[in-house]
Amino acid sequence: MQPVTIALAKGRPAKQSIDLLEAAGIHFEDFHEKTRKLVFFNKDKTLRLIFLKGMDVPIYVEKGAADIGIVGRDNIIETEADVYEILDLGIGKCKFSVAGKKGVSLPDNQSLTIGTKYPNIAKNFFDKRNQTIETVHLNGSVELAPLIGLADYIVDIVETGNTLHENGLEILADIETISTKFIVNKASFVTRSKEIQDVLKKLEQVVSEEN
Ligand code: PRP
Ligand code: MG
Repeated sequence: MQPVTIALAKGRPAKQSIDLLEAAGIHFEDFHEKTRKLVFFNKDKTLRLIFLKGMDVPIYVEKGAADIGIVGRDNIIETEADVYEILDLGIGKCKFSVAGKKGVSLPDNQSLTIGTKYPNIAKNFFDKRNQTIETVHLNGSVELAPLIGLADYIVDIVETGNTLHENGLEILADIETISTKFIVNKASFVTRSKEIQDVLKKLEQVVSEEN
């Protein structure tokens, strides 16, 4: 039988996710932090771990290229992926905020230019305020935009607040909280139910102990 495939966001959140899997007794033999490999198997090859960009995890899961995803809710909302969101893993806690240069206010009666990696989330937030925005879709270092004059405001993830602080920006409005979720492909949830429930139960156990 094909292994059950788990898609994991690489980069900053990867370590916590791997630690959680390890704590749940799920080990990927040749994984180590400095590896450049993108595919790993557990000992009996029933599980396959693949590493990808966070924003691609919900896509792989929606399309069934991965059965399970471990990914930030930011990426799930932004991609609007049609997947089952099963469990909050209690890691990767942060929030979406609107930020701008210190001392600048956030007007509610005019169109704004927003720099962001998350145009859908930005648009949804300002739609609710009946405010039109123009988004500048960026891929990183979003905090630069107001400093250099590319956009007056940004919508981005805030974790410690250090990046905002060190760049002279501040939060003007909070949008919503985010954490890492366990997501499942809708077909796999039925066809690979036993294997998925097995992984899920092990993770649930660790999450309930740690929270
Ligand atoms: C993320 C996010 C913020 C920062 C938030 O960026 O986009 O910039 O981390 O964390 P903090 O509140 O603890 O400072 P990341 O470091 O992933 O880089 P990127 O935006 O350039 O991709
Ligand atoms: Mg950033």
